[in-house]
Amino acid sequence: MLSAAQEYSRKNQPRFLAELKDLLRIPSISTLPEHAGDVRRAAEFLVRELQRIGMEHVRLIETAGHPLVYADWLHADGKPTCLCYGHYDVQPPDPLDEWLSPPFEPTERNGNLYARGAVDDKGQMYIHIKALECLMQTYCGKLPINVRLLIEGEEEVGGEGIAEYLRAHPETLTADFALVSDTEMFAPGLPTLCVGLRGMIYTELEVRGAKTDLHSGLYGGAAPNPFQALCWILAQLKNANGHVQIPGFYDDLQAPSAAELAAWKTLPFDEQKFLTEEIGAAALVGEANYSVLERLWARPTLEIHGMPGGFTGAGAKTVIPAKALAKVSMRLAPEMQPQSTFARYKQFVESLCPAGVTVEVRLIHSGDAIVIGTDNPYVAAATEALRAVFDRETVFIRSGGSIPIVGDFERHLKIPTVMMGFGLPDDNLHAPNEKFHIANFYNGIETMIEFFERMGK
Ligand code: BES
Ligand code: MN
Ligand code: MN
Repeated sequence: MLSAAQEYSRKNQPRFLAELKDLLRIPSISTLPEHAGDVRRAAEFLVRELQRIGMEHVRLIETAGHPLVYADWLHADGKPTCLCYGHYDVQPPDPLDEWLSPPFEPTERNGNLYARGAVDDKGQMYIHIKALECLMQTYCGKLPINVRLLIEGEEEVGGEGIAEYLRAHPETLTADFALVSDTEMFAPGLPTLCVGLRGMIYTELEVRGAKTDLHSGLYGGAAPNPFQALCWILAQLKNANGHVQIPGFYDDLQAPSAAELAAWKTLPFDEQKFLTEEIGAAALVGEANYSVLERLWARPTLEIHGMPGGFTGAGAKTVIPAKALAKVSMRLAPEMQPQSTFARYKQFVESLCPAGVTVEVRLIHSGDAIVIGTDNPYVAAATEALRAVFDRETVFIRSGGSIPIVGDFERHLKIPTVMMGFGLPDDNLHAPNEKFHIANFYNGIETMIEFFERMGK
């Protein structure tokens, strides 16, 4: 049986999708300075939208970086308060030539909506807003529970604006629980709550050698090569079994419980399909003595993202570059602390630095890992709402990705987070041809309505 709000949602599906497309047309790429104006336009779009649907205290909150969007509606006396979180910034769209339709021209194909940000996170964040609109429209301008919304524009760059605001003004965010739709379903049609995320530290290594670039014929053999030194360092950070070699790296790690590990074994995971359909490489790598899901969700890892510098143009140039750079991140398992992990890494890298060069180790951003308890009324209501719409039992999973603010909700606001996501494993997050399964957009809205209505009972 659909509620009046869910009926309203069904009737308005085409309009909701058209509005989401308008939001997706704004290239709010938080990492590129030339798009700062677009990022702000996306924030202003949301402000207008939240005002229109009847939310109160709708405003932009300025930060050192991109603005936050805030709104609330707090007149459901005696009912719980939900803090809805999402992000309106997106990743850069490159490589552009691999998109089948342009990243900022949302296009429907095979029941999917293709665009940068479709699932991460504009489409999912919009589920919250549209559910609130449906409720406002059918409850005479009211809501069944109290709601605050906090939507950020720097999630994809690890921006500190939201964390700084939260730490400075926690009283403006008091709530009983947070709600985040920025994660995935384990499989199509399988309702999923995410109960754990990895933390991360993102770093840069800069190696410097000679005072200027040098002719490699005239100086090679006697002058130090920063790229060679950088590769020497990087090659020693992980062994052939994917085990990170930084002393003490694994010391504080908290392994999942036997019960959680046993539950993961019952998930419908096909390692061969994962390799061929999602990864498309020759083999999986990593710590062979841990299952793939354990490696992805509960083990830390270290990745090299790029090595800018030197000569990378077409053809050949015989140069010994004066400096070399590497972008290196680590995903952290629960209880591994970003600060101490960075300190251990820095010390190890410095100890590996060969003669003739210097290495500088810089921290770009960091975030805590998080595991969330499932024994609370919010998770119970979420599983009931998911069952009502998807007609299946919810699975509890973790994810290897990071959403830094969730740790702050727990540690600073002292509230649990319900991570109810509607992405699919093949949605191409951060990659070309990102998509959102349109049925998941609509079902997400109906689930969210169901969830809010149950929380208000
Ligand atoms: N929504 C993702 C993280 C995610 C995706 C979690 C799928 C669970 C399932 C988020 O937008 C993201 O990409 N986060 C960044 C973190 C950041 C600090 C740059 C990440 O994980 O790399
Ligand atoms: Mn996201
Ligand atoms: Mn992302």
